Amino acid sequence: MILSLPAPAKINLGLRILGKRADGYHELESVFHSLELKDLLYAESIDDGLQLEMHDQTGLGMKVVRGEDNLVLRAGRIFCAAHEPAGGMRFYLDKRIPAGAGLGGGSSDAAAALLLANELHGAPLDANKLAELALHIGSDVPFFLSAGTQLARGRGEVLAPMEHVQGLHFLLIFPPVACSTGAVYKNHKPNLIADLPSSSIRSGEGDYPLGSALAGELGNDLEASAMDLYPQLALIRRRVATMGFPRVCMSGSGSTLFLTFNAQESARIAAKTLEPLSTDGVQLLLTRSAGEASNRRIPEAVSEIPGDQQA
Ligand code: C5P
Repeated sequence: MILSLPAPAKINLGLRILGKRADGYHELESVFHSLELKDLLYAESIDDGLQLEMHDQTGLGMKVVRGEDNLVLRAGRIFCAAHEPAGGMRFYLDKRIPAGAGLGGGSSDAAAALLLANELHGAPLDANKLAELALHIGSDVPFFLSAGTQLARGRGEVLAPMEHVQGLHFLLIFPPVACSTGAVYKNHKPNLIADLPSSSIRSGEGDYPLGSALAGELGNDLEASAMDLYPQLALIRRRVATMGFPRVCMSGSGSTLFLTFNAQESARIAAKTLEPLSTDGVQLLLTRSAGEASNRRIPEAVSEIPGDQQA
């Protein structure tokens, strides 16, 4: 049996750092919002061992981690340690989400791998156990077990669904810089936060104005730290602002910048306006809030893995 599952990217519609914890992580409050941009992961049972093949379609020349450190293989190992299945698994990853971009691509792949591994073995682990394993892989991984739009607290694993934020259009702006999550968090200093509203993010129906106001008003506390560490990112952010989009936001720990729109046409016009940035190595991508198919976290049986066709 071959199973497949989409692994959607996410953006942070706002991210606030509430403080540093005793365990070294930061306590945060953020709205995680999954996107139509996605990787596709396939899995099948094999006699022995864990294998991963990857087809890199990002086209951005960004380095996706290969080998043992890839989060899909880490998820496979963690699943096997918890369940001790008789055989092995082979994964095939159709990779479209750029790495080091603050879009959660690796974390989403890892969550998809856990869900696929569990399904391949007759669902021996319940949702709580999967969430525990997911957090072991990374702070963002539990979110991707259910995806959609969620208010995240704690390290990012204390989650509450916010179904009413949907149907948004995004222009993703990829600077030619990959950010290190650990370095950006480490460089965060409360006094680097500039011009952000003091109220913390609230949950509940009706608390959010939709569209650009949402991301623009919430801000991202990691932005100042990332701009400080990566001057080229700061330069590109300034250029986007001076080209007519001062409310440009950064996702997660960077490097992706994004603009939010209610209408697809407005996003297209913005993409046209920002085209000259390509001379600085910036790439643009139009996407939207993930639809039902990407957010459905139930693996589907398929007849073949596309990589096998191409071989
Ligand atoms: O959890 P994950 O491995 O994705 O995090 C990478 C790094 O980002 C951590 O080692 C930590 O330095 C930092 N981090 C943090 N607070 C969070 C999430 C991540 O300090 N809530």
